[in-house]
Amino acid sequence: MAAGVRTWERVVAELTERPGQARGDGFAITEYPDVPRVIADLDALIAQPIRRLRRDALQGYLDGHFEQKCAASKTMTAEAAHYIPGGVQHNLAFNLPFPLVVTKTSGCHLTDLDGNQYLDFLQAGGPTVLGSNPPEVLEQVIDVLGTCGPSTGLFHEFELKLARFIADHMPAVPMFRMLGSGTEGCMAAIRVARLATGRRNVVKMGGAYDGWSDQLAYGLRLPGTRHHEAKGVPRYVFRHTQEFFPGDPEPLERTLRRNRARGGTAAVLIEPLGPESGTRPLPLDFNAGVRELCDRFGALLVFDEVVTGFRIGLSGAQGFFGVEPDLTVFGKVVAGGYPSAGGLGGRRDHMKFLAAGLEAGSKKALVGGTMAANPLSSAAGYFTLVEMERQRAPQRAGAMGDRFAAGLRSAIQRRGLPFVAYNQGSIVHLQTVGTLHFTIDFNRIWEVPGKLKEIQARKTVMEEMGAAYTAEGVVTLAGSRLYTSAAHTEQTIDQAVSALDRVFAQVEGAKQLPGDRP
Ligand SMILES: Cc1ncc(COP(=O)(O)O)c(C=O)c1O
Repeated sequence: MAAGVRTWERVVAELTERPGQARGDGFAITEYPDVPRVIADLDALIAQPIRRLRRDALQGYLDGHFEQKCAASKTMTAEAAHYIPGGVQHNLAFNLPFPLVVTKTSGCHLTDLDGNQYLDFLQAGGPTVLGSNPPEVLEQVIDVLGTCGPSTGLFHEFELKLARFIADHMPAVPMFRMLGSGTEGCMAAIRVARLATGRRNVVKMGGAYDGWSDQLAYGLRLPGTRHHEAKGVPRYVFRHTQEFFPGDPEPLERTLRRNRARGGTAAVLIEPLGPESGTRPLPLDFNAGVRELCDRFGALLVFDEVVTGFRIGLSGAQGFFGVEPDLTVFGKVVAGGYPSAGGLGGRRDHMKFLAAGLEAGSKKALVGGTMAANPLSSAAGYFTLVEMERQRAPQRAGAMGDRFAAGLRSAIQRRGLPFVAYNQGSIVHLQTVGTLHFTIDFNRIWEVPGKLKEIQARKTVMEEMGAAYTAEGVVTLAGSRLYTSAAHTEQTIDQAVSALDRVFAQVEGAKQLPGDRP
């Protein structure tokens, strides 16, 4: 090996030698999860039979809450089913037994059409680290709308202010181009990477969701599933897309080596906390290792920071891990919960491929979007980030995540259940069935149908748990992920832990404790 080449071991040693860099103030994560322990607990969870809600308890929730207290939601969404496929538009909206119609949000609370109030841990799927609809941002947005409306197709000062704020906080992002969504940001990233490197293949982290564009609809949710979820996308589209198993650098290294003779690797695209926002967490040194592999094989390292960007800290997960990607994908928080939330950022020599206007050269990645970088979204993003910094929102939201995960762990332990709860700052994972912890190996094709059946059965139970949590007043993401925000308080977190514990108490075989409902 040539002198000066940084080996995997060297990178890891450097990372651990830099105290305070991988953890510390300014970030939502105060303590990195004990990854081997979490993985072992998840392995144990999926090795056990499913523990589901008692049937009478589930029926009690469906009748007692949804049927009796949510009649207006039921009627409206039944009518919607005539006009809107499935009666609901958002992938994150619960359907069991029917979707709720939300009329009001404020901070950490949601109100439905029937006037029921809930604690909100969906937080729109992640963009609202300040909590829902913060008045400080709303006032500024109303001002922009009042003066120039939501879109012009020209330039607005908040585009500059947002890009400068990001550059000031993320050394690896001196340039930023705003796009319409995280999906578009990921699409742009692989186009830029191909132009910048002249290479062909894109390697993504198995199980990660990098939006729904054709080429990245690969290895979704469960590592190893390849095109399984890409219904409607022709297989040939994946000729240059590959996935690797998260957490272990060796399969990635093998893929990069193999690609050398097959057009090379343009980009390695990863979610820095692990696929599905850390549903399968990564060892602390993993990202640094991937950085080293990308340098060695001449691929661009792309961090998909759609969830982690600004939620983990204003310098993103890249600041937390002390690892600089070549390109960073943004979404969600970059528009503060307002529409058209997306973008791509990186070094000048890479971002030149996204130059619009007069600077556009002939070698330009194809991107567009009538609504991208409009005054409404860029002002909302800018004022959200300014307010997040002023309020130390990532850290405060992270502290609430710590309290929530600790509360859930002790409830789970008291009930003698095999459930797994952990958090990465304000992203709290509560796994009761471990649906996303499975892997699919298409080389062992005979096992696949049985596994898919088991996964589906577990998913149904996860949805039932989600419905029960909602009936107890706690709205979650898919019954297994909970985003905390700076608007949550110790009191609301404790309230949520008690509410979820009331559901745990009714799981088959859960220990009954003094004070439980009869
Ligand atoms: C990690 C990650 N990347 C990309 C996306 C896609 O972003 P969008 O929904 O804005 O297209 C998401 C959406 O949830 C995401 O979680």
